Amino acid sequence: MENDIKKVLVSNEEINDICKKLGKQISKDYEGKDLVIVGLLKGCLPFMSDLFKEVTIYAKIDYMRVSSYAGKESTGKIKILNDISFGVTDKDVLIVDDIIDTGLTLEKIKNLFLARKAKSVKTCVLLDKPEGRTTSINADYVGTTVPKEFVVGYGLDYNDYYRNLSYIGVLKEEVYQK
Ligand code: IMP
Ligand code: MG
Repeated sequence: MENDIKKVLVSNEEINDICKKLGKQISKDYEGKDLVIVGLLKGCLPFMSDLFKEVTIYAKIDYMRVSSYAGKESTGKIKILNDISFGVTDKDVLIVDDIIDTGLTLEKIKNLFLARKAKSVKTCVLLDKPEGRTTSINADYVGTTVPKEFVVGYGLDYNDYYRNLSYIGVLKEEVYQK
């Protein structure tokens, strides 16, 4: 699997530092609030796990499974495959995802929680790909920015593989020709 990687964009050490920094900030900002962290599966998994351990205040966790990608392309249609199990009325919701690209996913899920009368809805992503944006949404907490390239690893997949890499990387061109 590692042989398919052309270059590493964000190392595991850098990711650990990002999780510590974001966890500290979130703990400070949400102190005394009714925080529910909602991860978007499957891409959020490693990030959520590492980030959550850096949150030092009372916080609940839940997951929602959404899908929009087929191979390297966003289909533009966000489907909710599994919903969360909590009600979010009057809760301070923080949505966690691996990456914000077009922004369609976070925009749709944010609006959904607002419609469900959450007290506040913010978003947190490990990666921001600003050049991919087709919506006006920006994430409230961003780990780091990446160029407009397809990236894999640490939750991010190509055809559901490479999620288990411990870092963020770019695939060799020949992998797409297989
Ligand atoms: P958006 O709705 O276009 O902002 O994209 C959000 C979702 O698209 C993320 O949750 C990822 O699953 C997926 N995605 C966007 N860019 C990439 C990428 O470079 N590699 C893998 N998945 C990506
Ligand atoms: Mg995803």
